[in-house]
Amino acid sequence: MGKVIMIASGKGGTGKTTAAANIGAALAMRGKLVLLADMDMGLRNLDIALGLESEVVYDISDVASKRCAFDDALLRNGRFENLYFIPATQTRSSKELDDGSIEEVRQLFKNRFDYCIIDASAGIEGSFAYAAGCADEIIIITTPETAALRDADRVISVLEENGKTEMRLIINRVRADLIEKGIMKNVDDCVDILSIPVIGIVPEDSELFVSSLQGVLAVSNEKSAAGKAFLNISGRILGENIPIMDFSEKEGFLMKLRRIFGKKGV
Ligand SMILES: Nc1ncnc2c1ncn2[C@@H]1O[C@H](COP(=O)(O)OP(=O)(O)OP(=O)(O)O)[C@@H](O)[C@H]1O
Ligand SMILES: [Mg+2]
Repeated sequence: MGKVIMIASGKGGTGKTTAAANIGAALAMRGKLVLLADMDMGLRNLDIALGLESEVVYDISDVASKRCAFDDALLRNGRFENLYFIPATQTRSSKELDDGSIEEVRQLFKNRFDYCIIDASAGIEGSFAYAAGCADEIIIITTPETAALRDADRVISVLEENGKTEMRLIINRVRADLIEKGIMKNVDDCVDILSIPVIGIVPEDSELFVSSLQGVLAVSNEKSAAGKAFLNISGRILGENIPIMDFSEKEGFLMKLRRIFGKKGV
């Protein structure tokens, strides 16, 4: 039985698609059979992140409505042997997804794959409830900004109200220089606001943009600090004991973070 992990956020643009693609690829690199499921209905772009946009025929709503077999909707990413992808619908609204199909879709994911990573839509509308219904665990991704944190807090409350307890946090686009100047909230501030355990801290990384222009995922780019952070997050998903601060991309960045956050090890 595999595990379904939803990547969610309150605010848009906090890095869900980036995180889903890179965590999924990293788990596949570790030999796990992985499905990346795009559930950002109407606004899909995980297909682009994976370079599969010209290959999409069927999508998840076709599977949920039994217009095609599960296998017919699955695409492979040639660069990662164990990585499969199922697209979100682009033309149909999320209302097309009948909640009655949640359990069936969830079982399809769990029976066939070791891990399914769902790229969800931002906020609590649209296919949010459908994606959450499929998930065993939810990773909330936020940037250290007040608006993103407030929206993440709202999403966490809604998930808790719906009985979801397995939640972990990624803080993305962290800049040690801005934290040091007191301009950006530090990791402790974010954790105090959201009160869920941290699974990873991802630095702001211009290499992500370079990688995406080249059609390469950050986890395959040795120069990418964010890529290293996503590799470590996947290790933690696999249950490895990797200290949160030990994603050292550049020694300078690590030392700065250690100085700022002290020994708390968040
Ligand atoms: N750590 C990072 N450093 C630099 N840029 C980043 C980082 N994480 C994400 N980005 C950039 O931020 C933008 C938004 O990322 P992404 O598309 O993954 O967010 P999203 O949460 O999926 O957005 P949406 O809510 O629209 O689906 C992208 O251009 C991405 O390359
Ligand atoms: Mg997205």
